[in-house]
Amino acid sequence: MNPHLSQLQPYPFQRLRDVFQGIMPNPQLTPINLSIGEPKHATPPIITEALKNNVSGLASYPTTVGIPALREAINQWLQRRYGIPALDIDRAILPLNGSREGLFAIAQAVIDTNRTTTPVVISPNPFYQIYEGAAFLAGAEPYFINTLPDNDFGMDFSEVPPAVLHHTQLVYVCTPGNPAGKVMDIAAWKTLFALSDQYGFVIVADECYSEIYFDEARPPLGALQAAHQLGRDYSRLVMFSSLSKRSNVPGMRSGFVAGDPAIIEKFTLYRTYHGCAMNPAVQAASATAWQDEAHVLENRRLYTEKFNRVVQPLQHVWAKTQMPEAAFYLWINTEQADVEVAKTLYRELNITVLPGSFLAREAQGINPGKGFIRLALVSSVAETLEAVQRIQTFY
Ligand SMILES: Cc1ncc(COP(=O)(O)O)c(C=O)c1O
Repeated sequence: MNPHLSQLQPYPFQRLRDVFQGIMPNPQLTPINLSIGEPKHATPPIITEALKNNVSGLASYPTTVGIPALREAINQWLQRRYGIPALDIDRAILPLNGSREGLFAIAQAVIDTNRTTTPVVISPNPFYQIYEGAAFLAGAEPYFINTLPDNDFGMDFSEVPPAVLHHTQLVYVCTPGNPAGKVMDIAAWKTLFALSDQYGFVIVADECYSEIYFDEARPPLGALQAAHQLGRDYSRLVMFSSLSKRSNVPGMRSGFVAGDPAIIEKFTLYRTYHGCAMNPAVQAASATAWQDEAHVLENRRLYTEKFNRVVQPLQHVWAKTQMPEAAFYLWINTEQADVEVAKTLYRELNITVLPGSFLAREAQGINPGKGFIRLALVSSVAETLEAVQRIQTFY
């Protein structure tokens, strides 16, 4: 078997099941799960209708690049959302079956192991677990940059030794970030672009939370937008986006990658062999989704209501609770042992949260998730408020 498979770590939710073994959750309370970042707001009818109306598409094989109508819908969304010029839909945009598979596969296409030293993939820490698995299976070594309250949860590249940067072939950034909701600003992008120019690495921007934010006047900056504002082309830059959170369709599996045509060309070749073309009915429904913003506004309204109503009460319990810039998580420094806090909430209140240390690795001598818990505010307003009420009463 491929030896790199043994480098893969147990997924955080598996580790959570393991630590909960033998604990009896409070039977007087209904279970509330705040651990998984799975959107639970209703899927908009325009999307389900489009899906139903296009099932006849199942009669033919889809192509890897998908129908032009989908790539054009994405192109127009990118222009509206980020104020960037139109992209070439034949060279710079590719549909994905959700951003997860694309974020994984891109490393297999980008990483060159025919060098004398092991390639490095830089990742934030804590991080979306796919980045690490992608690095290992591509034959690379991950290098983690701890994102901590001291740097406002941003990635401080100045702490990466030049010897590491010399061997870095790919850098994952997540903006807005999971779990802290941190958005990279133009200064952070300028620094990263300069390093990419100097060391030649590819930047993969994971932007799957870009549409979950709380101030309509301040949508999060995107990677292509930052490049455009800085007067750059998209060399060595690709961004990944998704309908899962934006449009409440995590089960539809629909996203895209856009950016550097030289990378997209090779990635398309890789995907042709890998065999991951998007279902034709999903392509049609996705085009409909990218063309509509009304449902996205309503989605944001629901998240904003939840965050506005829970942050303050939780500050009475955990003083360091902060409103995130974006995304749908509360990343709370409990200043206690995170696994114990998670166990207590499960045992006493039948509430499941994720211990922060499970989302991070020990790097530079610390686990930057230690002491934190992650709450995904994905459920209904009522259930979310019920969870907070239980926590407040208990503590
Ligand atoms: C940071 C991050 N990136 C990517 C994804 C993948 O989303 P999808 O594959 O549904 O687009 C997730 C899902 O939770 C995530 O948290």
